[in-house]
Parts: sequence; C-alpha cells; structure tokens
Amino acid sequence: MSFFIDCDPGHDDVLAILLALAHPEQINIKGITTVAGNSTVQNVTENILKVLDYIGVSIPVAMGCARPIRREPEPQPAAHGVSGMDGPDLPAPKSRVDARHAVTFLFEEILRQDEPVTIISLAPMTNLAILFETYPKVRNRVERICLMGGSLHGGNILPRSEFNIYHDPEAAKIVFGSGIPITMSGLEVCAEAKTMLKDFEPLKHGGRVSRLAYELMDYYSGYARDRDWDYTNVFDAVPVAQILSPELFVGTKYRVAIETEGELCRGMTVALPCAGEPTEPCVTVLEHADGVRFSALMLDALRILDQKQHD
Ligand code: BDR
Ligand code: CA
Repeated sequence: MSFFIDCDPGHDDVLAILLALAHPEQINIKGITTVAGNSTVQNVTENILKVLDYIGVSIPVAMGCARPIRREPEPQPAAHGVSGMDGPDLPAPKSRVDARHAVTFLFEEILRQDEPVTIISLAPMTNLAILFETYPKVRNRVERICLMGGSLHGGNILPRSEFNIYHDPEAAKIVFGSGIPITMSGLEVCAEAKTMLKDFEPLKHGGRVSRLAYELMDYYSGYARDRDWDYTNVFDAVPVAQILSPELFVGTKYRVAIETEGELCRGMTVALPCAGEPTEPCVTVLEHADGVRFSALMLDALRILDQKQHD
C-alpha cells in the first residue's frame, strides 16, 4: 500500500514520520507534502528536508499552500518555536524540494500508483482540499485519509477547536465532505496515547535517530514540564500508530461536520453518532488508545532506525 504524508513539521510531525519510516514494509511513503500551519510553509519544508538528510532517507518532498483558503496563517511559536521545529540544530538541507506544487505533486503521483493510496494528514488540510476541488477524480484513487485533527469534546486553540481544523476550517469541511473514508485521531485519543517523559530521557545517549528524537522531545515537552506533567502527547504519531497497530485503538463511527463560522466554535468538529443509514459518509473517530503500547511502539521505532544507520 502506498502512502502520502501531508504535514507541517512540527516536532510531533517529525516523530510521526520517524515512526512510519521504521516500518517501510507497512507504510511505503511515496511522497511528503508540506503546508502552512505550525510555521510558514518555507520553514516547515526546510525542517523536513533537514530531518530526511540527517537520517539519510530520500523521499520526494513537495511544498504546498502558504495560507489557508480564506484566512490569515496563525503559526504556533509557543508550541514549536518560530522555525516550527526549534530545538535540534541540524545543518541546512542539501536535498531539494520537488519542483511541483504539492497539489500538482499529489495529483500526478497518486494517479501514477497502481492501487488506491492512503493519505496521512498531520496538518491543516489546505493542500488536500484544493487537490479534491481542482482534481475531483483523484478522490477515487484515495482509499482512506488517516488524519490528526479535531475533537469530540475538547479544544487546544478554542475551547472546542483543535489547531489543524481551526487553522483552515473551510479546507477541513471540503475534506470531510469528500466522500473518502476518514479515520480521525482527535484530541481525546491523543490524550490517551501518552508518552512518558522519563522514557525519552535515555534517548539522549542513544543512536543518531534517538538523539534527534530526544532533542525534539526536549523542546516540545517544555509545555508539559512547565505544568509539572510527567508525560506529553505526540499528537501526529497517533494516526501512524493506528495504521501500524490498529489493535491498540478503539474507534466509533460518527458523522462529522465542520463549523466554519462563529467566534467561539470556528473549526469545531461536530460529531453525531451514525444511526441507521447515514446521510453522509461515516468517519471513524478513534476514542481510546493503549498508551503503554503506543509509547513502546514509538521507542521501538527509534531503536529500529538507530540500527538501520549501522546497516
Ligand atoms: C496539531 O497541531 C500541531 O501543532 C501539531 O503538529 C498537531 O498536528 C495538534 O493539535
Ligand atoms: Ca502537525
């Protein structure tokens, strides 16, 4: 099965991509596309190129939309620093970005695959919305979208709104209305898929990839440490973990609508349980996770990648 990852790296985006890279037999990444979210699209593109160079992996990267469909970008320096990936001091990338815009790249590369693909979405969905609006026939070539975004009850930007949906609610509305099956990892399941900070401590003495993961976590968990939490959430790794080990998760089918208007609820994912024949496609919302095994999966992936550096 072929996969495309749309992201805004982002510390947790990078950890999610590392998790996927450890399991190429299950997640064959055909391309990575970037979008404005945690920082500018230029910054997040440079971040992923730096990481791929550092670990010696060659995957096409295409840069996408610099702004949401009809709003101003709202980067997240408090969580990710101004660069979107503050913390690790990696050399400037040598690899070049693909010459195509992410939307063109996705269209051409998805159609080139023999079988329908899965898209892993870890960021505001601007690229995906424009892809489906511009090239509607590509939807038939996407088997599933596994995304981090939204919530059933909570919020991390507004009381009921999660960042990826809040940032471009118009895009999310298009993607959730695309008819493509969606597996949604919202804030609730991400809260259960915890990573204990003490488990990441030894990584600073680990191999090359573990040390990078440690530096990412060291910066990213500042928010948690300031609050005396002994864990942090690695949001974007959750949809990847669910693809690798679906048995760690419990999900329920919902109809999900996106609130695009309103001061208080912009970007809210309004989830209604499916009763009888759904009038719109069902979304599987992950609700529970085995946090201990999730954390083990993450640490195991880093060991695998450290080992690969020596092979
Ligand atoms: C999401 O917002 C971003 O800051 C993270 O990378 C993640 O995709 C969590 O709400
Ligand atoms: Ca992200």
